[in-house]
Amino acid sequence: MLLSKEVRLTTASSTPMDLTSRPTQDTYVFMCCNVRENKLACGNARDRDRMLDYFRQAILARQADFQPGRRVKVNPSGCLSHCAQGPTVVIFPDNVWYRCRTIEDIDAIVDQHLVQGTPVTHLTLP
Ligand code: FES
Repeated sequence: MLLSKEVRLTTASSTPMDLTSRPTQDTYVFMCCNVRENKLACGNARDRDRMLDYFRQAILARQADFQPGRRVKVNPSGCLSHCAQGPTVVIFPDNVWYRCRTIEDIDAIVDQHLVQGTPVTHLTLP
């Protein structure tokens, strides 16, 4: 599923969030998997397929740790307009944007943000 133009233009809030008090609802993780022939897209350089698959497996592995009834879905997206800092990941409805370059970054986002409800500040994008 690709993001709509309106959603792609949304920027991250600089206000700290308390993600633990939100009501149970689905969460959508979008990872830029954009590919361009000129190799400037963040998805080109950093093994996007392996990263996307790892993200999905990490979610499945932690499924029991999410709030009951909450579903977390990981989807590839087109360009999210943070190409030089990518691969870019954005989490909705939280509207938190991340630079996600390694599987350790994915582990931190899954554990700290998606399970514990606290953004991973050292990976967030402005
Ligand atoms: S190519 Fe990934 S954010 Fe632009």
